[in-house]
Amino acid sequence: MKHKIIKVVGLAAALAALSAPALAAGDADAGKKVFNKCKACHALDEGKNKVGPSLFGVLGKPAASVKGFKYSKALQESGLTWDDATLAKYLTKPKELVPGTRMAFSGLKKSEDIDNVIAYIKANGG
Ligand code: HEC
Repeated sequence: MKHKIIKVVGLAAALAALSAPALAAGDADAGKKVFNKCKACHALDEGKNKVGPSLFGVLGKPAASVKGFKYSKALQESGLTWDDATLAKYLTKPKELVPGTRMAFSGLKKSEDIDNVIAYIKANGG
């Protein structure tokens, strides 16, 4: 009986290890270049809002939650929480995920760029 449980746990861990890298495979160094496209509007410093809100600590936060930034109604009512998946969708086509968002950015075409820029944001306080 004991053996069986250990086997099942082992299998679950193996499966988790197999499926995890798909999302988390970004290269932060390569993402730095991609972030140049965001820099005009976003800083990663806490509390530093530009045309867009500061991206400090953005991963894991509900959308539209930086104090003092005037968000669109659309983003405020989106009910989104930023994680790898929602961020990847938003950065692909902001206006498709959040119709009415004020982020005037057409989107990143390459999924590789998206993975890398998310890795960069994570590695630099986001
Ligand atoms: C032209 C300016 C501009 C560019 C370029 C831009 N953004 Fe934005 N971004 C905004 C604005 C404005 C908002 C607020 C949108 C709203 O209120 O609907 C926003 C919102 C966001 C949010 C949601 C933040 C929150 O607090 O909920 C994230 C994440 C984000 N942008 C990431 C990026 C990334 C990553 C890039 C580059 C790939 C980028 N943006 C490029 C202007 C920009």
